Amino acid sequence: MNSFNELAKDRYSCRKISDRKVEQEKIDKIIESAIAAPTAVNKQPFKIFLMDSEEAKKNIHEVCNYTFGADTFLLLGYTEKEGWVRSFDNRNFADVDGSIVATHMMMEIADQGLATTWVGHFDAPKLKSMYKELADYELIAIFPIGYPTDEARPSHLHAKRKSKEDVFEIL
Ligand SMILES: Cc1cc2nc3c(=O)[nH]c(=O)nc-3n(C[C@H](O)[C@H](O)[C@H](O)COP(=O)(O)O)c2cc1C
Repeated sequence: MNSFNELAKDRYSCRKISDRKVEQEKIDKIIESAIAAPTAVNKQPFKIFLMDSEEAKKNIHEVCNYTFGADTFLLLGYTEKEGWVRSFDNRNFADVDGSIVATHMMMEIADQGLATTWVGHFDAPKLKSMYKELADYELIAIFPIGYPTDEARPSHLHAKRKSKEDVFEIL
């Protein structure tokens, strides 16, 4: 079993994904890990959509160029209607909560030996216009999910991390 530190370092955005079907138990685990994510005041202001039908997959391809060969797509949205609002400055934390949930999903996918990339570059307004179920949600991630192909490798950006000196300071 991976330690979290190994998993955090080994995970990478995989952009070569086979269309082999992802088993339902693995999808269930991803949802479980999403539900386990902490959220401000436990508001859990998010929803996950499995874009499962042929039409749903066609729609994903219509709004997103970053599908990487996958055949399974999870879509994540958060809603400010359910988010905790900090009284000092009226900041709504639903976006932060959504990011934590997405990160849990991404790490669970990696922990299962599956491949994904968090995709934020898609036409969210167009996708929202296709489904009344999405109306309340800000769509922040499409996860194309599958098994990595033999050619799958981390991109050059994966190794390009800031140093400890860049990101850490003792005050
Ligand atoms: C919020 C977010 C949005 C992203 N959107 C995209 C995207 O639309 N397309 C893509 O190819 N990669 C996307 N990525 C992946 C990043 O480019 C990638 O995480 C970064 O380059 C570091 O590489 P690594 O994940 O392999 O370590 C996104 C990542 C995050 C966290």
